[in-house]
Formats: sequence, C-alpha cells, structure tokens
Amino acid sequence: MSELTELYQKIAQCQDCGLGKQRTKAVPGEGPENARLVFIGEAPGFHEDQQGRPFVGPAGQFLESLLISAGLKRSHVYICNVVKCRPPGNRDPLPTEIDACRKWLDRQLQLISPQMIVTLGRYSMARYFPGESIGKIHGTARKREGVVLVAMYHPAAALHQQSLRKTIEADMKKLPDFMAEMDVSTEKENRSEQLRLL
Ligand code: URA
Repeated sequence: MSELTELYQKIAQCQDCGLGKQRTKAVPGEGPENARLVFIGEAPGFHEDQQGRPFVGPAGQFLESLLISAGLKRSHVYICNVVKCRPPGNRDPLPTEIDACRKWLDRQLQLISPQMIVTLGRYSMARYFPGESIGKIHGTARKREGVVLVAMYHPAAALHQQSLRKTIEADMKKLPDFMAEMDVSTEKENRSEQLRLL
C-alpha cells in the first residue's frame, strides 16, 4: 500500500476535532502521488461529504472546466482541502479544526512534493500568504523554498460573480507558463526537503 493510501486510512479514522463525529465521509484529497501541481481548497461541502471526494459539487465542476480551459487535466493534478471533514451547514472551519487538520495536509504535501501549490480561497491562502489580500496577489506567482506558490479566488465565489469569473479564468490560464518560467526543481527528493521549510 502506498504511503498516501495509508494516510487516507488514517484521515478516515481521525477524531481529532468535532467534525469527525458529524461527517459522512472524510475527504482526504485525490490525484496522482507524483502530481506537479496541487490545489488546496477550504473544506468539503455537502456533495464532497457524501462521496468522500474533493470538489465534486458545483464548485468542483467549475474548477474542472477552468482546468480544461488552461489545458490541464483534473486527473493530472492533486486536489485537497485545508480541512478534511465537512463543517456542518457549510459553516467556515474553526481555527481549532484547521489546526487539528494541519498535520494531514503537511504530510500530504511532503509525500507529493509538488512543484506548484495553488491556494483556492482564504483558508489555504492564509497559510502561504499570511496577512496578504487576495485582491492584490491573485494570479501572481512567487517561488519559496523551491516551490511556486499562487493564490487564486475560490471557484465557489467566482461561480456566480461575472467579474470574478473572468479573473479566475485568466489566472488559471497563467499556471502552465508559471511552471515553465519559474524553473522549479524537478528532483522530487529536493522538493520534498524544501517543502518541510514552508
Ligand atoms: N469547496 C472546497 O473548498 N472544497 C471542496 O472540496 C468543495 C468545495
């Protein structure tokens, strides 16, 4: 069994915060273990909780169409969330829940060692771009510890707001060029070491 699969089993049994008691299914994340690109959303919603898969509801369908428009395939990227279980009624995750879940995201990123991390929404953005404003930094890339980091609006926010929709579409289309331009380390071992520092 791969280490990522083992991790999924641990996440499925996790009771380290109150969300564990209320979930239908935990939603660890999905995608290839050697994905170069990782998207990190906020938390599972209704559909994700039912299916145990990330971004499978309306926001997920929009995300998938955005990926296609940028020439990316969902099956080639890794998609996960800051919090692995659905907060009841889709409320915002609490700081204690984010803290309790942090170890899972850390381990996931260590195992995958992506070349690029894209944050979707404010919770994943808070981790990599603390104190910054999405209005200023969306769609820009920076390299830290050998990994390219990009913040984007959350697809759910952009879905029904025409101006944000255009923005997120344009930002998504920049990703392949960022990967090419920023000369990220293709050595998985190196990236794994560097990710520890993020
Ligand atoms: N929104 C998220 O942030 N994550 C999901 O998995 C679905 C919707």
